[in-house]
This record gives sequence, C-alpha cells and structure tokens, in this order.
Amino acid sequence: MKNDLVNKLRASRDLSDDELRELIESGRDDDALRSAADAVRREHYGDRVFLRGLIEFTNYCKNNCYYCGIRAGNAEAVRYRLSKEEILACCAEGYALGYRTFVLQGGEDPYFTDDLICDITAAIRKTYPECAITLSIGEKSRESYQRYYDAGANRYLLRHETANPLHYAKLHPEKMSSDDRKRCLWDLKEIGYQVGSGFMVGSPFQTTGDLIADLRFLQELQPDMIGIGPYITHHATPFSDMPSGSAELTLRLVSILRLMFPYVLLPATTALGTLLPDGRERGLRAGANVVMPNLSPTAVRRQYDLYENKICTGEESAQCRQCLEARVKAAGYRVVTDRGDVRR
Ligand code: 5AD
Ligand code: FES
Repeated sequence: MKNDLVNKLRASRDLSDDELRELIESGRDDDALRSAADAVRREHYGDRVFLRGLIEFTNYCKNNCYYCGIRAGNAEAVRYRLSKEEILACCAEGYALGYRTFVLQGGEDPYFTDDLICDITAAIRKTYPECAITLSIGEKSRESYQRYYDAGANRYLLRHETANPLHYAKLHPEKMSSDDRKRCLWDLKEIGYQVGSGFMVGSPFQTTGDLIADLRFLQELQPDMIGIGPYITHHATPFSDMPSGSAELTLRLVSILRLMFPYVLLPATTALGTLLPDGRERGLRAGANVVMPNLSPTAVRRQYDLYENKICTGEESAQCRQCLEARVKAAGYRVVTDRGDVRR
C-alpha cells in the first residue's frame, strides 16, 4: 500500500490530501520512499552535493518567535554582531575552502540598516563576482529587498515556518502574521531572487493537516530551495516544556519533498544533525543535496543559539569543511564546489 503511494508520488509529483496524510502518518519502514527519492535526486543532480558557507553575522533580533533561542525576550542570550570587515574575512576563508555561495544569516537586527546591508553585499559582490550571495535576514519591505538585489544579492532564504495562519499564530506573537511572511516570499520571487522557503517539523501544536498545508503552499510558491529541520526545544523560550520534533518524520518529509519537487535544492540541515549524530548523512540519503558548513568565527558560534545543543559550535571553519566532506562521502555522494544554481 505504502509502495503504491510512493510510486504514484514519484510518477505524478502529487498526491491527494488523504494520500499525503496516509504517507506522512505511515509506520516506520521508509525504505521504498527513500530509494525513490534518491533515484529522483540522482536523475536531476547525480551524486553532487552543494556547499553553502553560512555566516551567522548577528544574533540580535527584534522578533519574539516563541520557539527561537535568540528571540528578543531571551535576556540570557549573549548578543554579538560581526563588522563588515569580519564578514568579509569569513568570505575570504570560505572562498579558500572552495565555497562559491555565501549565506549571510541573522536575526532581524535594526542595527543593520538597508544601507549597511547593501554596502556589505556590494563589497562581497565586487570581491567575488562569480559567487552567489544569499541573504537570510527576515521580513523586509519590497523596496528593501529590491535594494539588496540591486546591490548584488542573488538568493534569499525565508522559511514560511507554517502555512496555516492559525498554527502560525500559535508560534508567533500577534504582530507577526503568516500573510506578511507569504507576502515577503512573493515579493522576493517577483524581484528575481532564487527563493528558499521551508518549515519546522514537529513544532508545537503542528498537525498532519498543517504539514499538508505546508506542502500545498510550496506547490504554489515553487521555491528553488526548501529548508526543513526538526523543531528542537530551547530552554529559555515559552516553549521550553514542548518536546522536540522527530528526526524520522523530518527524513520522511525530505523524501516526500524530493519526489514532489525533483529539481529543488534541499539541505541536510544542522537541526537534523543536532537531533541525530548521523542526521545529515541520513538527510542526504533521503533526498537532500545541499549542506551548509558554518563559516562564522568560532568566538561567536555558540551564541547563535537557536535551539539546544546545536552542533558545529566548537569547530573551526576548516574543520567543518573536512567533517562535512567526509560525511558526504560516507553517505555515498560527492562534494562539488560550483555555485550550485537550481536546475529546473
Ligand atoms: N528548532 C528548530 N529550528 C528552529 N529555528 C528557529 N528556532 C528553532 C528551533 N527551536 C529555525 C526556523 C528559522 C531558522 C533560521 O531556524 O525555522 O527560520
Ligand atoms: Fe561542523 Fe561537522 S560540520 S563539525
């Protein structure tokens, strides 16, 4: 029965809501699902795995998402910002390690005005004309997104977190809304960014219906990248008593996403690697084709504390590079150092 669903999903890239529910809620044996996802990934991308050098440049955030360890309301968080020079030094180190995509990720930090973001983006663009620049700095106006794009940014990551507005309202304070988040994603697409969206698996109050809504929203948006990871509890948040999500279910959804979106760039996320020691390897085998080694200076790594026990906080950038290459190989794939643009 499950195999029929897998075959149908592979052939038509879609299932009815009832069928998706059955697959999402199905029991442990995901072998057929995983091998179908791997076959589709190999048809589109072979055994190649793309690297994205991640620079977490500020953990200041004006938002108060209930799940996140760097929420404004967490007074325990030790805050930091990298200077333009420090960010450029991270890029130089990443370039030497072979990275041709830099991801600048941060909280929604008003210190980084549009002028400053454009200045940093333009400097990276000038020094590394052949590299992709990805921004992941949250919700902004369309005008701001346009300015960053004009300064040289190519890609933007902004997870929709959950597509159901009622569920969204349970995870965020009143002044944030699912509509605003979706508006941002459509703006980014229209401007011409390669857009990444995604959601957490097993976030508090999430139902299978919510996950189906996430898949439906992604079908509408047709993003270039989809990042998913398990929700992981952080002790200094209003959700400190909520259990973490399941790695098993996250892996199942990675495979479902690969079958629904054969072309998509799909990272084996740090959150998955945090929940399971071989989580990223298993993510790759389930259909993922991107890894995002950390490029932030080791002095600040521990402070980008989104969730408990986040990995890669003690390692130097070069160590993460080595470590990930070994993991990718062990999983049966090959690291490549090109930009890794989406192949539709
Ligand atoms: N567990 C897992 N993922 C989290 N994120 C934020 N907090 C957590 C958490 N506690 C994810 C969100 C955000 C991304 C940068 O990190 O999905 O978009
Ligand atoms: Fe950072 Fe393994 S990837 S230590």
